[in-house]
Amino acid sequence: MTNLRSRVIGLGSHLPPRIVTNEDLTEFMDTSDEWIVQRTGIRERRWVEGVTSTSDLAVEASQRALDSAGLAAQDLDMIFLATLSPDHFFPGSAVFLQRKLGLAGIPAIDVRQQCTGFIYALSIADQYIRTGSAEKILVVGSEVHSKGLEKSTRGRDVTVLFGDGAGAVILEATGVTDPDRESHLLSTHLYTDGAFAEELWVPAVSTAYDEDIVDQRMLDRGDQYPKMNGRQVFVHAVKRMPEAVEAALEQNNYQVNDVDLFVFHQANLRINEAVAHRLGAPEEKVFNTIHKYANTTAATIPIGLDEAVQAGMLEAGMLVASAAFGSGFTWGSALLRW
Ligand code: COA
Repeated sequence: MTNLRSRVIGLGSHLPPRIVTNEDLTEFMDTSDEWIVQRTGIRERRWVEGVTSTSDLAVEASQRALDSAGLAAQDLDMIFLATLSPDHFFPGSAVFLQRKLGLAGIPAIDVRQQCTGFIYALSIADQYIRTGSAEKILVVGSEVHSKGLEKSTRGRDVTVLFGDGAGAVILEATGVTDPDRESHLLSTHLYTDGAFAEELWVPAVSTAYDEDIVDQRMLDRGDQYPKMNGRQVFVHAVKRMPEAVEAALEQNNYQVNDVDLFVFHQANLRINEAVAHRLGAPEEKVFNTIHKYANTTAATIPIGLDEAVQAGMLEAGMLVASAAFGSGFTWGSALLRW
């Protein structure tokens, strides 16, 4: 029997050219290259310059994904853009991405699931394809963190972790008769636990306070900057990511050993080492980019896929497991036959 499934036919990423090293950060906060490398594995990250926005990075990655698929933007049926750093409070950034791609008419939808945003967007897009509602969907993760980070010692625990970047895939509907061989997205698993919403969040701008969505008191408190309970995030991430991968493997009757490459979210090298250890996966099968790009949130997984292909580590027919964890808390996994 032929089942309608999604397969990745295009892939692209874009990192802004400006490199910010750990040493560069010491110019405006009390930190050190040694502290950052030891605890996170991050050596440098990219920051945008000037008026560059999240949708600007997204359009570059999207165009590369379209080019690699041999498609024009006009061939797309839908757009999903995952980001926690939108161009504006509203409308969503997918609207600006659509406009910059020279398109009108097709649905352009923002997904706001932070570090798990790309897996959520992939999952939603996959549902449209499985039901035959769409044939070609652009799924993008894009972030401009640098403009929203507190660049002083008060914000150092968060600021050193994040970078800017974008990655994109094009999904196409495909009929699958042999799931062990044919390229397709096997499954996605999504989870949320809002009990931990304030463990990693940006308190303002906000409709949850008395009157205006932003006032001087919020700015004085620094509510516009991300706040994080790093230990809580770490402890939950190293538990939830392996669980999500195990759920994917179990549903599809595979073992950890069957996976050829793990392309995890990039929050912290130590998190990914612990996840691989818990799964019993060899570290050489885990593809990381954290050392050079830090955490680009919704963009880490498509950037990782793109760089793994360019590095010759991801080839047709491989079984790829992906998982992410982040603010919400949200977490999830995706299993793909590449
Ligand atoms: N540079 C130097 N010192 C720093 C620092 C920085 N950038 N950030 C925090 N510190 C200090 C702290 O103030 C603290 O000092 P104190 O002991 O005098 O109070 C000390 O370093 C240790 O801080 P702590 O928070 O205990 O460190 P940690 O070993 O837990 O590591 C993280 C902190 C953030 C690296 C770690 O908790 C982590 O990676 N968590 C997950 C974060 C994450 O992945 N977030 C994104 C999820 S999608």
